[in-house]
Formats: sequence, structure tokens, C-alpha cells
Amino acid sequence: MNVFGVDIGGSGIKGAPVNLERGELTEPRHKVLTPHPATPDDVAGCVQEVVSHFGWSGPVGITFPGVVTGGITRTAANVDKGWIDVDARALLGDRLGLPVTVLNDADAAGVAEMTFGAGTGRKGTVFLLTFGTGIGSALFIDGTLVPNTELGHLELNGHDAEKHASTKAKEDEDLSWQHWAHRVQKYLAHVEMLFSPELFIIGGGVSRKADKFLPLIEGIRAEIVPAQLQNNAGIVGAAMAAAATGP
Ligand code: BGC
Repeated sequence: MNVFGVDIGGSGIKGAPVNLERGELTEPRHKVLTPHPATPDDVAGCVQEVVSHFGWSGPVGITFPGVVTGGITRTAANVDKGWIDVDARALLGDRLGLPVTVLNDADAAGVAEMTFGAGTGRKGTVFLLTFGTGIGSALFIDGTLVPNTELGHLELNGHDAEKHASTKAKEDEDLSWQHWAHRVQKYLAHVEMLFSPELFIIGGGVSRKADKFLPLIEGIRAEIVPAQLQNNAGIVGAAMAAAATGP
């Protein structure tokens, strides 16, 4: 079965039909740049453009970079504050004229990695952490997602952790891999102190460059591996969530 997945990110809004048996895109994804400010209306227009590019009609799963409960977007750290308490399921569903499921972006990526990627078959406490514009977190206990954990906003060195250890912080402050890896290490140590996970899966675009920073991270007891689906994890996980919700 194929379902459409859309990933709303800080820099791009991308989507493609997904083959759910294989966890793979059936066609190259289509991407449009995230508008600034990323208001609900403008983002909905971009989602519509991505979906109509494929002439898709059927269920659509959509990720959002903030807390999502019951289809309502509750926080908006890196998008326009106009998203707070919006019924995103209704807004996007009406715009597309299709049934939609909306969930947190890191949760979507985590679901995909736990089924088709680095977390396949892993029991115990597992975290997928995405490093990008912000830091996203997805917590799994014996393969079951605990949604909306938002650990990117833990306090680290007196800062919101994602302001200090995201890849955006690396770029904005022009940090070396060594310097940034040190911050990521401190962040992982903090999460480990709180949850004692077995496994950290490191996702987001930077997972493609895992060899540049994972070897620099020391003193973490948990296993640390790069995500395998890399930048398509959100799209695949969104489609999986839409399939699980049903029309
Ligand atoms: C948001 C999270 C999101 C993460 C990655 C954070 O700022 O609060 O909900 O998962 O960024 O996009």
C-alpha cells in the first residue's frame, strides 16, 4: 500500500508517496522552500503544492516541528507563533480535500527508524534525536512511541538545549566539528542521566556526516548510531502514521 508523506521543516517542505511495505519513497520527493514567516496559511499552501505535484488523492501524513495533540499544533518554536492551538488536521485536510494525520516531526522520523532503519527490532528505551534547525526527540519504550517528548528544550549550560547544540547553532556560531560534538556530548549525557536509554539514534540532515562527529563523542554509556533513512525518515513516518490512523 502507498500513502503520501509530507515533512514540514524549518528550511523545506518536502513530500512523496511512500511504499509502506518497504518504507521507501516510490518517486523522488518534491521540495518547496519553507516560507518566512511560516504562517499556517502559507505553509498549508506549500503542502498543497507538494501534494498536487504528484496528483495525489488518498490519505496524507504530515509532520510538524512542534507538539501535536489530536491534530492540534500546540507549540511553534521554529515556525510562526500563529500555529499555536491551530486545528492543523482541519486546516490542512480542508486545503487538500483529503484525510490527513498530523504528528510531531521527530516522532514521525522515529517511527520510521524503528521499523525500517537503525532501531528495527530494538527493545528497551530508545531515543531518536534529530539535529537540524532545532533538536527533536522521539522516545520508544519496547518499540512503543511516547509522543511529544520535546527534549530539545531541556536546559543546557543555561540555554534552551537546541539553541546551543542544534546544527543551526553550529552554523550560526561557525563551530568546529570538535566544538559542536562536545556540546552534543553534554546534551546526550544529560538525556542519559534522565532516561538511561540503551540506544541513541542520531537523525536529521547531519546524520549523513556522522563520521565527522560521532567518533568525537565520548563517555556515553548508550550505543550511538546514525539514522539510516536520513532525510526521508519524516516523510516515511508521516505516511506510516496516516496509514495507522486510517481514512
Ligand atoms: C520543536 C520540536 C521539534 C524539533 C525539531 C523543536 O524546536 O519544539 O517539536 O521536533 O524542534 O524540528
